[in-house]
Amino acid sequence: MQKDHFDIKSKTWDTGSERVQNTKTISEAILENFSLHTKMEILDFGVGTGLLGFEIAAHVGKVYGVDTSASMLEKLQEKNTDALSIEAIHQDIIQTPLTQCFDGLISSMTLHHIEDLHAFFTTIKNNIKENGFIAIADLESEDGTFHSDNEGVFHFGFDKERLCALVAECGFKDVAFEQINTIQKPHRDFGIFLLTARV
Ligand SMILES: C[S@@+](CC[C@H](N)C(=O)[O-])C[C@H]1O[C@@H](n2cnc3c(N)ncnc32)[C@H](O)[C@@H]1O
Repeated sequence: MQKDHFDIKSKTWDTGSERVQNTKTISEAILENFSLHTKMEILDFGVGTGLLGFEIAAHVGKVYGVDTSASMLEKLQEKNTDALSIEAIHQDIIQTPLTQCFDGLISSMTLHHIEDLHAFFTTIKNNIKENGFIAIADLESEDGTFHSDNEGVFHFGFDKERLCALVAECGFKDVAFEQINTIQKPHRDFGIFLLTARV
């Protein structure tokens, strides 16, 4: 398992109000794009403390949350209740793929931490049912100043055309990309996109 870059960040992750608001906006965009229902099982890739996963869990049968950070998953598990919970999976699913198939995969602000995007998309395609979906939110291309420390950051955001082409090349259909939010920092604004596609 890779070094846990989120060990210290996990302690205060949920106190970032802009971060919480961003995941609510991502959740709203996912709900607008897909008709979720209570028979669905969804995988949240890079679930972290569950900011997005818990929003979606209220609309589906079950959310599984995969993450390589034990400390982020510990924070998530503290938030599980009998009424609303996420099943945490501590695994690098690119190196050791899951065998289960899901109705959809969601992800918030994790893609820029994934070095080999081709390996990621071809691997997760095998974990999504026929006609299932992906809904992945992340940063649009940026200049490397979004994070104060770029340790563990492999991409300074994503270019629309290049990312859509890669996702289509990996076998997904109906690939779409829309800007859904802007995060304002004192020195500049950063666009947040939602990429959607079907298997
Ligand atoms: C910026 S955080 C986002 C967390 C959460 N999705 C949110 O929006 O609050 C990125 C998360 O991706 C996780 N991560 C990084 N590389 C990963 C990988 N290869 N597989 C699964 N999770 C990974 C990190 O541990 C971290 O929890």
